[in-house]
Amino acid sequence: MIICVCKSVSDRSIHSAIHAGANSLEALQFECGVALCCGKCENAVFDILSTHNSAGDTAIPISFHERAAA
Ligand code: FES
Repeated sequence: MIICVCKSVSDRSIHSAIHAGANSLEALQFECGVALCCGKCENAVFDILSTHNSAGDTAIPISFHERAAA
C-alpha cells in the first residue's frame, strides 16, 4: 500500500528502511523521501514506526483492515 503519495513510497519500503536501521521520521525522510512534500503521510509513518520496537522486531499489521483492528 502506498503511504506517501507524493513520493510513491509503500509501507513495505518503509518497513524495509526501518529494518535497515532507520528509526526516526528524519531517518525515513532521508532513506525513503517520505513526508517531505505535503506532509499528509507523516502520521501514517509515525504509526508504522510505532509498530516497531527498539530491537527492530515488529508485529506488522499487513492490511488496512488488520491495522484498523490493531
Ligand atoms: S503524501 Fe507524503 S509528503 Fe505528501
